[in-house]
Amino acid sequence: MADSDRAAQDLPIRPRRLRAPALRPLLQRVSLRRRDVIVPVFVREGSGIRQEVSSMPGVFQMSVDVALPWLAQRAEEGYGAYLIFGVVDRAKKDELGSAALDPDNVVCRLLKEAARQKLPMAGITDLCFCEYTSHGHCGPLTCGDHPPDALTTVDNDPTVARLVQQAINHARAGAAVVAPSGMMDGTIGALRKGLDAAGFADVSLLAYAVKYASAFYGPFRDAADSAPSFGDRRSYQMDPARGVDEAVTEATLDVEQGADMVMVKPAGAYLDIIRAVREQVRVPVVAYQVSGEYAMLEAASRNGWLDRDRAVVESLVAIKRAGADLVITYYAELLAKLIEK
Ligand code: PBG
Repeated sequence: MADSDRAAQDLPIRPRRLRAPALRPLLQRVSLRRRDVIVPVFVREGSGIRQEVSSMPGVFQMSVDVALPWLAQRAEEGYGAYLIFGVVDRAKKDELGSAALDPDNVVCRLLKEAARQKLPMAGITDLCFCEYTSHGHCGPLTCGDHPPDALTTVDNDPTVARLVQQAINHARAGAAVVAPSGMMDGTIGALRKGLDAAGFADVSLLAYAVKYASAFYGPFRDAADSAPSFGDRRSYQMDPARGVDEAVTEATLDVEQGADMVMVKPAGAYLDIIRAVREQVRVPVVAYQVSGEYAMLEAASRNGWLDRDRAVVESLVAIKRAGADLVITYYAELLAKLIEK
């Protein structure tokens, strides 16, 4: 190096000073702790079942007897809440998703067993019918028993009435929080009224307020066996190409109707939406790092193309930095080795 290259510039402002190893930890403003993480669990009928989801390697469908000890380990690690998805046999599915309203279905059994064993975690249930309907849509269809046509969609108000029944069943079984994910209008107001009238004023509502019609849910539909058999969910889930205003409207409506927390989903590709919602509401914001985000990180990591540990933590820190108070991620087991309680 020539002497002229070594000469210091006249440069008083040097952001690199604060990147010195001694100063870096002092200046971190975004924390990711295990207590910020909600742990999803896919629970299915039967016993002794632990079946890996092919498009989500490392994630398993479990029967109640296997899921409980698995959750107890997560509690031990410092996680405070789990989010339950029920997986039912095809033979039990019908047009209305009746199995969702069976007070003894696999979701209710997991909740009751968790209460009996005093699992020290809050149980959150996903309220929806897509795992239970024969057609895989999120509620009864406007075509009723007739074959679907181009205008067929989920029938909003009857679906909401059924969601209220599902919520009451979950509350009775011990859910601390119910989280409607079907994007039906008026769900939150109806749930609050219905739960209060049934004596469950203490059960919280986590609204999937801002949920996009996303390709990133693909692997989840394998995990929950909930892919629509015709069409897609674009008549009820949001269009990614709409602006942030719609997201703010959805979140505000849910807060006005009584949502205790609001969710944005997916997370990684929607950091602008998380930020916009964070600035508009005064309730906790939850962001869901969905199945497709997990699958991408996992696929690249398994190929040796990404440093998994660093990429996972970085992806979640970004979601928190955007404004999420809590994150839902399939990486709880790994995070127990990487981040503090
Ligand atoms: C609906 C529901 C879905 C997810 C959570 N709740 C799927 C959908 O809307 O099709 C997706 C979660 C994920 O992809 O991880 N019950």
